Parts: sequence; structure tokens; C-alpha cells
Amino acid sequence: MINKIDYEKIFFEISSEFSEVDDLGKIATYIPELGKVNPSKLGIHLATVDSQNYSFGDSDELFSIQSVAKVLSLTLALKIMGRDLWTRVGVEPSGSPFNSLVQLEYEHGIPRNPFINAGAIVVCDILVTCLDNPKKQLLDFIRKSSGIGSVNYSSKIAESEKKCGYRNHALINLMKDFGNIHNDVDVVLDLYFYLCSIEMSCKELTQTFMFLAYGGVNPITNQRVISLSRTKRINSVMLMCGFYDEAGEFAFKVGLPGKSGVGGGIVAIHPGKFCIAVWSPKLNKKGNSYKGMKVLEALTSKTKCSIF
Ligand code: DON
Repeated sequence: MINKIDYEKIFFEISSEFSEVDDLGKIATYIPELGKVNPSKLGIHLATVDSQNYSFGDSDELFSIQSVAKVLSLTLALKIMGRDLWTRVGVEPSGSPFNSLVQLEYEHGIPRNPFINAGAIVVCDILVTCLDNPKKQLLDFIRKSSGIGSVNYSSKIAESEKKCGYRNHALINLMKDFGNIHNDVDVVLDLYFYLCSIEMSCKELTQTFMFLAYGGVNPITNQRVISLSRTKRINSVMLMCGFYDEAGEFAFKVGLPGKSGVGGGIVAIHPGKFCIAVWSPKLNKKGNSYKGMKVLEALTSKTKCSIF
């Protein structure tokens, strides 16, 4: 049983403290459609494993979850391919930006982990190989495992990203040359851009990712999403690699496995206790939500509740 913490009161305190501090982040404009979002949005939702829910601000508003979705494509690919997946992509932190090309050349087209863009593109390649209709089957998997039938892609965001995804084109072509992409590069990138365009609210994110706090089972639907041992592996890759070259900083300050996206969303997991999602669109220099990181740091400090 979770001790009753008045999270809503804590969210209110945190947001009042931050309203006096400048948000030094900048919205992601390299995907033009993402640049249209209202930068002052702030949503927080925390759901405990015993079904208590705590919300703040814009927690019911849909936004582009971007790289947060890479956890879901990894989950599906792991279910289908099992441990052989790790011959195509590593589990080490990259220590470099999410869209960097540098390591890939030295490391013969094997991405460091499934959350940098190169790694998530390899995971999409695996899904294209294994599924007849990857876009539909990926969305069906997310709808079924979350219990939210309305989850969808945003074709506006996907098309916007497709038009300017020069780095992702460079990454996939380099990996194709090394033999680590088995399908047509445009087909794989199409799935990748659609994956990143998925929209959810903070509340929906907590419902979707709750299986990672509950040993692989979604306690709301009572459905097993993935095995206990793979749940452990996904959480550990989130802890080590979920924030790219800021993963150490997030573990140091927040102390939870988590995953960020350039839409300004962050999901963090306290295994056995809760799942929390924060959305604040302005990003720091590493591409992670500036305020989102601060909110989570303040939350785990005030509640003394991290995994360490
Ligand atoms: O491929 C991209 O650049 C984006 N669709 C995803 C990057 C992202 O979300 C990085 N996370 N903070």
C-alpha cells in the first residue's frame, strides 16, 4: 500500500515556485509543426499502482509524445524478436546527442541503444521485417496495451518531420551501408516518423506506461504487456539512456527511469509505486523538457521518493 501523499498539493507548490523562475528552454522548431505549440503549457499526471490519480494543469491535453514512443516500439519489438534484438542495437548510454552520427561510423552501424534516433530506427526496421502492416499493428498494440482505443498518430506532425528529417535520412543510410537496415529506407523512416508523431495526454501516458511500474502488467486493463524480466530490462535502458547525453543528470537529480521527447513530454517510473508524466514544451540544450526535468527533481526531492 502506498503512503498517502498529497501529490496535488505538491504539484501546486512546485508550479508556484517555478512561476517565479524563468523557463530558459526553447521550443523544438526543427520540426516546423512542433513549433506551433503554446510554449507555456504545463501538465502533470501521477498514477499509482493502486489506481490513485493526481493531476495538475494541462494534464488532459494531447501533445506530440515524440521519443517517449520509442519505449513502446522497443516493447513490441522485444516481444516479437526476443533477445536477438540486442545483436542489432546496444544497451549502453551514448553520451552524445539523440541525433548524432559520430559513434555510428566507429561502431559499424550498431547504435548504442534503442532510444537514440539511430537505435529507434533499427527497432522500426525490425518491426517492418516482422509485421505485415507495421503502422497499424504498432498502433493496435499501443491501444490494446494501454486500454485507450482513441490513441492515434498525427499525420501533420509525421509529414512535417518527413520533409526535414535530413539527419534521420543520414543515420539510416549509414546503417544501411553497414548492413544493419534490412528494408527499404523510406518504408522504415515512414514508420519511424509516424511512431514519433503519436499524441497522448499526460494522463494517457501514465495509463500507457503503468505496466513498467507493475511488473509488465497494466493494472487498469489487467493485461500482461510484457514479461517481468523484460520489464526490468526496459526500465534499466530508460534509466541509463532515456535522456541521451543528460541521462546521468536525470538519474542524479531525479533518480527514476524515464524517457523524454522533443514535444516536451517526460514519463518516469517508480517501479512498484507509480508512473508520472510531465509536459512542458520548452526544451533545454540537450533536447529534454527544461521545466519537466525541474518538476521531477523537485517532486522526488520533496517526497524523498526515488529508486535510490
Ligand atoms: O527524430 C527526431 O528527431 C524526433 N522525431 C524525435 C527526437 C526526440 O524526441 C528526442 N528526445 N528528446
